Amino acid sequence: MSLIQLDEPRVRERRRPTRSGRTYAIRTFGCQMNVHDSEGIAGLLEADGMKRIAEPENADLVVLNTCCIRENADQKLYGTLGMLKKAKDQRPGMLIAVGGCLAQKDEDIIQERAPWVDVVFGTHNFDRVVSLLDYAEEWGPVMEILEESTEVAVVPVKRDVAHSAWVTIMIGCNNACTFCIVPAVRGGEISRRPGDIVREVESLSADGVVEVTLLGQNVNSYGRDLELNGHKTLFAELLRQVGAVEGIERIRYTSPHPKDFREDVAVAMAETPAVCEQLHLPLQSGSDRILAAMHRGYNAERFLAKVELARRLIPNLALSTDIIVGFPGETEEDFQHTLDVVEQARFDSAFTFIYSPRPGTAAAELVDDFIDKDVVHDRYQRLGELQHSIGLETNRALIGQTVELLIDGPSKKDPERKSGRTRTNKLVHLKTEQPAGSFADARLVEATPYFLLGEPA
Ligand code: SAH
Ligand code: SF4
Ligand code: F3S
Repeated sequence: MSLIQLDEPRVRERRRPTRSGRTYAIRTFGCQMNVHDSEGIAGLLEADGMKRIAEPENADLVVLNTCCIRENADQKLYGTLGMLKKAKDQRPGMLIAVGGCLAQKDEDIIQERAPWVDVVFGTHNFDRVVSLLDYAEEWGPVMEILEESTEVAVVPVKRDVAHSAWVTIMIGCNNACTFCIVPAVRGGEISRRPGDIVREVESLSADGVVEVTLLGQNVNSYGRDLELNGHKTLFAELLRQVGAVEGIERIRYTSPHPKDFREDVAVAMAETPAVCEQLHLPLQSGSDRILAAMHRGYNAERFLAKVELARRLIPNLALSTDIIVGFPGETEEDFQHTLDVVEQARFDSAFTFIYSPRPGTAAAELVDDFIDKDVVHDRYQRLGELQHSIGLETNRALIGQTVELLIDGPSKKDPERKSGRTRTNKLVHLKTEQPAGSFADARLVEATPYFLLGEPA
């Protein structure tokens, strides 16, 4: 069974639902953009009459929206596909579709390793999922991977949470960080028109959404590729425009790139009441030598200067980051520099990753400089311990304060409590009758590095 590449023109319009009464399940492996794409895929499937169920084994259609940022993402996909083969052997009518970043990168490999997959689609054509399913049902397995996007696809989304929404402001990335596969699978930057973004936020607000998170791989370059009537709306201005939408109480965004994070954005954050006091600024490494090898475009001093700028302009700012340990050639001294920057920046939280070579990226070629696994694990452990203690100290310092929470729903840790987020994106569990989507004031009474406990205030 071989997959065929479609080269027919893209047809988005559909006449009427053709899959009424059939069920689908989606598993999402990647980042927020991947999650948001899955919401779009779900929206398209529901418009085609399908109903979502939780268990993939019982669904008529299973969609796997994949990620390839690190090696373990690949392993997870093939593990799931193995499990689905067993389900499909018992129910041969089941359809399996694989989309997203790993599909974009590995089109032929998926076909080779899992010939029971019916549809393979990429990042640039997730909006074609229903047409591709039609094709597969009529003609057999199909693969469609497009080289690039020409615009940001806008589709009806099906959201799991009523009060909070993702909003794509741009797709792709023009940077060339040497460890990163994203530009290869998501293409170059394309910004959405500011008016379209604001209208989407207005319609979300009309639907009861009170919190939006603006999405892009490098939001600080938003708008540079768009000129309308001789004017470029850059990210700082977009923040102000979204901030003026009535009913939106909280605005977050991810991710900014430290090299492009400037005063105009920090000032817009400070001056726009709805924009939350939260910044995710990915450090990656604290060593100037490694930062240069990563092509990050800043050094430790410049990174710390951005942190200082943001903290000075935005009172009570919470700061989070991403750090990679074990980049090729990282010495103990380089790693010490990372620990030093972590000590100085005092992040509220950090996502830490072990470097994972991604075939096709520049760093993956540096095979002779790969770091011994045990050495990397030891560094990863030490970094984790340092951040653990800083996270605990920063959260403990909040005890006694009264904060505004947006309630997300029942706490996963303790069924007697609900979970909510502060404006600074801290997770707080508290006993309250307030429903999901409402605001509640809480006095913080206990802290761990990763969450706090509160009492109604
Ligand atoms: N656009 C974002 C990053 C998106 S990828 C930015 O520039 O900040 C999310 C995180 O995954 C990165 O910040 C990085 O820390 C991590 N990451 C990316 N490629 C990786 C790799 N090859 N190995 C380990 N971690 C990686
Ligand atoms: Fe990857 Fe760098 Fe682009 Fe982020 S900015 S997506 S790390 S290439
Ligand atoms: Fe996101 Fe993974 Fe793709 S992190 S952009 S889903 S490779």
